[in-house]
Amino acid sequence: MKIIKKISDMQAFSRQARMDGERIGIVPTMGFLHSGHISLIDRARAEADVLIVSLFVNPAQFAPNEDLDTYPKDFEHDCKLCETRGVDVLFAPTPEEMYYPDRSVWINEEKLAKKLCGASRPAFFRGVCTVVAKLFNISLPDFAVFGQKDAQQALIVKRMVRDLNFPVEIIIAPLVRESNGLAISSRNSYLNKDERRNALSISKALHQIKKEVVKLHIHNKQQITDAISKQITKAGGEIDYVSIYDAETLDDISEKSKKILIACAATFGKARLIDNVVLNLND
Ligand code: PAJ
Repeated sequence: MKIIKKISDMQAFSRQARMDGERIGIVPTMGFLHSGHISLIDRARAEADVLIVSLFVNPAQFAPNEDLDTYPKDFEHDCKLCETRGVDVLFAPTPEEMYYPDRSVWINEEKLAKKLCGASRPAFFRGVCTVVAKLFNISLPDFAVFGQKDAQQALIVKRMVRDLNFPVEIIIAPLVRESNGLAISSRNSYLNKDERRNALSISKALHQIKKEVVKLHIHNKQQITDAISKQITKAGGEIDYVSIYDAETLDDISEKSKKILIACAATFGKARLIDNVVLNLND
């Protein structure tokens, strides 16, 4: 496995691979890799001739009061893991390599990014879109894999690719959970034992509602979001949002909606956790 740190080296590598007719796949990550990331890497490995994993804790998507400085890192472990999963290139630039000090161009998605996580993290998706666009220009992929864990991020990246005509196919891979239901996240490492147990209330509440939703009637949104919030709050979580939207458009649900996204964000201790379930109304 090659480790590339310079943008010019990464572009030269990908340009050559493209000239050789290889299909390039990328899995963008912020590192501290876990089984959620591995599922994306395995999915991409199955479809790519050349598989790139990027590892970059993107300062542009953290607000000044957020956890940029304490974001967990383990470069050696990440390298070993990528090597064992057959990754061809680990692209791991420094922030100085990625961003000019006087940078002044950003990519803003202006509709989907206003809801859910975007409401409490107003600059977050601007940072995500900008870095993902840069990663696409640097690694020239044919396709990229993102996780349903970050459902809103996946929709926004798809929208960016559609609206700006990036020649990149976006694949969304399923959300990976621990056997107890907890959605796997690098930020779970912030949880102590009690918080980890209490945080299970998020996935429990979401899955319970998923089962009961027919009884509750999906259009009674308030009843559903209240029931979820109550369970999480009772376990000590501080709710950021519990929301229900059309899973494909993030519009309010209507008769046209085929899939419904029930998403929530809550803080336990130092960890802001997000989770979601999707209801397929055709099922
Ligand atoms: P990060 O949180 O490291 O996640 C990288 C990718 O892994 C994302 O597409 C995310 O949805 C996916 N992922 C994380 N946990 C998952 C899980 N439990 N199951 C399935 N997929 C999971 O998301 C980011 O980094 C950044 O915003 C990034 C896109 C790299 C831009 O900086």
